[in-house]
Amino acid sequence: MGILTLDNFDVKGKTVLLRVDMNCPIHPETCEILGTGRIEEVVETINALDGAKIVVISHQGRVGRDDFVGMEEHAKQLEKFSGKKVKYVADVIGSLAQDEIKKMDGKEIILLDNLRLCAEENYEFSLEESAKTIMVQRIKDLFDLFILDSFPSAHRTHPSLVGFAQVLPTCAGKLLEKEVKQLENILTVAKSPFAIVLGGSKVDDRLKAINLLIKKERADHVLLTGVIGNVFLRAQGRIKYPLNIKDEDEMVAKAHSLIGEHPDVFSTPVDIAINKDGKRVEIDVRELSKDDEIFDIGTKTVEHYSKMISGAGTVFMSGPAGYFEKESFQFGTKSMLEAIAESMATSIISGGHLTSALRQYDLTEKVNHISTAGGALVRYLTGQKLPMIMCLEDAAERHSKD
Ligand code: 3PG
Repeated sequence: MGILTLDNFDVKGKTVLLRVDMNCPIHPETCEILGTGRIEEVVETINALDGAKIVVISHQGRVGRDDFVGMEEHAKQLEKFSGKKVKYVADVIGSLAQDEIKKMDGKEIILLDNLRLCAEENYEFSLEESAKTIMVQRIKDLFDLFILDSFPSAHRTHPSLVGFAQVLPTCAGKLLEKEVKQLENILTVAKSPFAIVLGGSKVDDRLKAINLLIKKERADHVLLTGVIGNVFLRAQGRIKYPLNIKDEDEMVAKAHSLIGEHPDVFSTPVDIAINKDGKRVEIDVRELSKDDEIFDIGTKTVEHYSKMISGAGTVFMSGPAGYFEKESFQFGTKSMLEAIAESMATSIISGGHLTSALRQYDLTEKVNHISTAGGALVRYLTGQKLPMIMCLEDAAERHSKD
């Protein structure tokens, strides 16, 4: 692979900075962590770091969104899953964090607060600039080794992802190593037609993903669900009122031109489940009115999409089909996953929500590859070189010259 792994380093007695991706689905009202899959996965790397002083860092959510919360709950969950004492430090690069790191005796793991509390972590930097950020400069000298184990954010160039990698000895953690190996294998057997089942609420990211996947001939059919499905319905003129999402006009215009450029690729829902006083009610898309809360795809859509999935050579699903947090609206997500599990297609399921859903429905063994990554995986599947992999390769080259 041309990257270093933990096998290349003796970590005993060393202070290591471990960048993971514990960005989890969060309940919009209670702020509870809804799926702990990404936290559970961190344990493998932690176990491989026996004898080291471990400082874990991660982002959670995006500033201004419901899922932008601190890491206190993550620390409790990490302690539960790892069986090791985990101390939450309510600071990222300030004197509290620095003092706690200096005092470490190896008996407990430290989890610092949400990285995106630091302004710099909300911007994409060039690799060179990222190494000069205050975040990197302020704490880099406290560590002997930097471990990148956050494949879901491998497409980002935030300082915590690419900055430390340039100023510290750096290697891949267990999760990243495994994921890249498995994906390399799976891509050698992937065959057409490619069906992409897209849902979730990150509309801008989804539009970019669709663009990339079509360009690289990795999307013969795009089956749309969730908020991105609504955006396409609006672009088709089948939803006639505003959806009240961020940058809606721009998103709808992009969807409109995608449909124009690739008229045979997209399928949108024909029926929808709406939330009527907490109950699921299915209606035809044409009957939707602006006060209806769209919470899931309907039965006819599920039947149509399931047929498309059964004829695919490779299926990639990313993002839940509906308001997965509410039980009566899990039908679309569950049915899509069941159709994929039953099909003969090579299957790749991506994102934290779907990883948790597969577990919940006991379907984990029935798909070929499960990745907690979303946007990063799309870029990987389209053959893009990810900044995180580039940094790891650079670090390996530096190491070989030392
Ligand atoms: C993800 O969930 O895809 C990663 O954690 C990256 O999150 P982001 O899209 O908010 O950067």
